[in-house]
This record gives sequence, structure tokens and C-alpha cells, in this order.
Amino acid sequence: MQWAERVNVVRVIGTGVMGRGIAQIAAAAGLTVELADARPEAVAEAVDHIGRMFDKLAGKGRMTTEEAAAARDRLRPVDGPLAPTEADLVVEAVREDLDTKRELFAELEEVCPTSTVFATNTSSLQVTSIATALADPSRLAGLHFFNPVPLMRLVEVIPGARTAAWVPDALVALVRRLGHTPVRATDTPGFLVNHAGRGLVTEALQVLAEDVAGTADIDRVCRDVLGLRMGPFELMDLTGLDVTHPAMESIWRGYYGDPRLRPSPITRTRLEAGLLGRKTGEGFYTYADGAEQEDPEPQAPESVAHPVWSDDAELLAELAGAGVQVERGPEPSADAVVLVTPYGHSAASAARSAGLPVARACGVDPLSTATRAVLAVHPACDVAFARSAWAALAATGRKVTVVRDSPGSVAQRILAAIVNTSCFIAEQHLASPADIDTAVRIALGYPRGPLEWGQHVGPRRVLTILRALHSATGDPRYRPSRWLVERAELGLELTETGTSPRDLYA
Ligand SMILES: NC(=O)c1ccc[n+]([C@@H]2O[C@H](COP(=O)([O-])OP(=O)(O)OC[C@H]3O[C@@H](n4cnc5c(N)ncnc54)[C@H](O)[C@@H]3O)[C@@H](O)[C@H]2O)c1
Repeated sequence: MQWAERVNVVRVIGTGVMGRGIAQIAAAAGLTVELADARPEAVAEAVDHIGRMFDKLAGKGRMTTEEAAAARDRLRPVDGPLAPTEADLVVEAVREDLDTKRELFAELEEVCPTSTVFATNTSSLQVTSIATALADPSRLAGLHFFNPVPLMRLVEVIPGARTAAWVPDALVALVRRLGHTPVRATDTPGFLVNHAGRGLVTEALQVLAEDVAGTADIDRVCRDVLGLRMGPFELMDLTGLDVTHPAMESIWRGYYGDPRLRPSPITRTRLEAGLLGRKTGEGFYTYADGAEQEDPEPQAPESVAHPVWSDDAELLAELAGAGVQVERGPEPSADAVVLVTPYGHSAASAARSAGLPVARACGVDPLSTATRAVLAVHPACDVAFARSAWAALAATGRKVTVVRDSPGSVAQRILAAIVNTSCFIAEQHLASPADIDTAVRIALGYPRGPLEWGQHVGPRRVLTILRALHSATGDPRYRPSRWLVERAELGLELTETGTSPRDLYA
């Protein structure tokens, strides 16, 4: 029998938010769970809480009342973290402090059988640093659960530099036994999910910093155009800047200042001001009785004062269908508003290089959906023509977000950052392409895995967006990853590993 099937007793140390969730799923999966905390009352509260969770699940028919009672019976409060034990596995979920965790594991090594596997639920410390507290660091690995544990069914399994090879394999099997999905990550800053999540948040902050769009508009575009469940600013308000900002800084520092992970002075200032988000009632949004107060969207003008010409025949057909006067000739007339639909390039530069009248040209993001169109306005736009462009798009029944022109508009920039970040992760071999996509889909709730998403949009398009941003800004945060460049040039899929030297040795 494999180790994961033999595991019978798990000790969970630290019965706060995470520990109680881990204890719940372990007990539900049939394991005996010893619960320990530095504060005995925390254990009693956790047992109470988990019992109520089992009752709730039984009430919803997700488990029988007998199963709920049996699972509750498998919860065993113990007399402190160092109480004698025969645990097969210890999962540590105490506060996020290196010395606290190291001290705890050093003491645990004295009281646990030599066969006990140790796991840490750290979210930002190095697994390898924690393991150095042990005489035998080969028995410790990271087992990174997400909050709330019973609902977030992803777990990162993270070997440290000295972890024995069998341990991550065994933990992967155990996570499956708990009914969760394991992914293998490496002991690098942010591991897999928190590293991959940097694309969305740091690029959204960069778009805000450049005044391309405001927070509510960026969130709307992320929801309605990219299909995210939550915009980046709503997400930061939910998590709290006291968590998000230090995480951004620690991942960026961990990669020695890599510009693609660069945090923003915006969140540092807001953190200092105590504008943390929901937990303080004020963040990027304000919250009255817990509900988000979002400013109403600006009303589009009703009349389209100019005929519309576009380089996109589908858009023209849609506008014509909505009763807008369109021009289908090879060039716009002297009275027409011009809608260009570039990937990567700004509307102004796309119009200029196509020889179109720049003052009458606005951009429409080709990623725009049936729900929302994004209109880009550049500094040399004639306001009357730009208002006609807005009215024309609104006539199709779509909501319209008006943003400042930028290479790649809002949705393209954020999507390219999401895809490129995960391409870097794949390129550095920090996780397999399949695990990257699985982890991000489950833990971050994106509509597609980032590599699959980049494939769907087209690697060449993503590359065009990044190269345009890189050349317009000179900012190395937009340098495309080699993974993306090679796959775009070789016609491979972003989800494909392709041939590596290792394949020749096989
Ligand atoms: N909250 C999250 O969203 C989240 C997600 C993933 C990972 N994590 C990680 O999980 C760990 C726990 O986080 P949490 O949010 O559950 O914290 P928490 O504050 O809710 O719970 C921590 C518990 O640990 C106990 N504790 C502290 N020092 C102890 C010690 N030396 N021995 C025994 N018990 C001790 C505390 O009394 C408390 O009950 C941290 O490492 C955190 O980074 C948290």
C-alpha cells in the first residue's frame, strides 16, 4: 500500500482560518485529525466550527447525518502541538512567521516518529528555510491550501531543496484522497498561483497609474470583456491591501526586482492611509453595510452626428444593423468618424500608419464583447467625432467604456500580462503547463487557464501586444518571455512543452 493510502492520523497545528478548513476536509475524507493550537480555546472553537460545517453539509444532503457524526468523532483535540503522537502527517498552519514555524518543527521532530511527514501551509516563506530547522529536512514539504479550504479545491505541493523525492509524490496522492486537486510547484517566490496572479494585479495598477482608465472602468472591462468573475480592484478590496501589497513586494523582491513583477506606489500609499478594502469599509470602493458602492457609468450621447467608417467589416455591419449610418468605401469621407481596431498598437499610431485622419480616429478594442465595447480616445482626437464614436457603439446596445488610448488598450494589456507571466513560469520550469492552467483556473477563477487563454487569442497576437507596449514604453516589464516568442515563431501551442534536451537522454 502506498503512503497516501496508509495515512490514518493527521495532526493539524494552528486551528485558525486555514487549519480548521484543512482539519474539516481531512476528517471528512476519513482521517483521524488531531487538532492543536498555542491557544487551547482556538481548538475548541475550531471543533465547534467544523461540527457546524458538517451539520450544514448534512442539511444540504452533501453527507448523511451518520457520516457527519462519524467525521465529527474523528476530530481529536490534543493537549498542545507537542503532545505525544503517532501522526503519519503533521500539517502546520500557524501564523506566518519564519522563526515561529522553524521553532515548532524543531520541537516536533523531537516528539514525532521518524516516519512522520511534515507539511507547512506557508504562503510566502521559503519551504527550504523552514526545513533547515530539522535535523532531517528531507521529510518536509509545502502543502499550500487556499482560503476557504473546503471550497477552494486546489493545493500546491512544494518540495524544498532537500525534500526527499518520494514526499511530493506521496503528498500529491494524499491531496487527491482529500478530494482536492494537487499541482506541483517549486519553492520560488509566490510558488505557482500567487506568482501567476501578479499579471492581472500589477498590470491593472500600471494602467491606472498611466491614467488609461479608472478603477471601476478597469474592473468593468475585466468582468465584461475578459470574463473575470471579479475585477482586480474589487479583488484587492476583498483580499485587503495589508495582504496584497506585501505579497506583491515580497514576490518582486524574491525575483530580485524583476520589472514584470514590479509593485505599485499606488497600493503602498493606500495601505499607509489604511484604505485596505472591505475590512476597513474603504478601499478602491467604499462599502456601506458591506455592499460595494460603485459609481454609475457615464451616459453615452444619444445622437451619432457623423457617419462611421471602420477597418473592421464586422463592426461596421453591427453598427449598420443598429441603424448607424456607415461608410463602406476603401477610405473614410471628410465627415466620417474613423474606428480602428488594432491589436497591440495604439489607435493613434494605427490610424497614422494606415494614412487615416488621426483627429477623427478612435480605437475600438477588438476583444470587445457583445456586452461591452472599449473605446480608446487619444490626445489629438476631435471631441465631437469621439462623442459620435461613443454614441455609435452605444447604439448597438452594448455598454461602452471610454479609455485613454494606449498600446493594447485595457483588456489586451491585462490579458497579455496574464499570459506572459504564466509563460515565464512555464519557461523557468516552475510548473508544468497543465498544472499552471489547472491552478489558475481553480484558485484564481479565470475563465481559462492563462496558457490556454493565450493560445485561444493567438500567441502571435499576444506577442504583438507585448512588443508594441515594450517599444512604446521602453519598460522591460513588457519584454515577452522566450516561451511565448518561441511558440509564436515555431507555430507551437503555448500549452505544449515541446522538445527539450532531456528528451534526447531518454
Ligand atoms: N488566510 C489565508 O488566506 C491563507 C491562505 C493560504 C495560506 N495561509 C497561511 O496559513 C497559515 C495560517 O494562516 P491563517 O490565516 O489560518 O492564520 P490565523 O491567524 O487564522 O490562525 C493561526 C493560528 O495559529 C495559532 N498559532 C500561532 N502560533 C502558534 C504556535 N507557535 N503553535 C501553535 N499554534 C500557533 C494561532 O493561535 C491561530 O489560531 C499562515 O502561514 C498563512 O500564511 C493563509
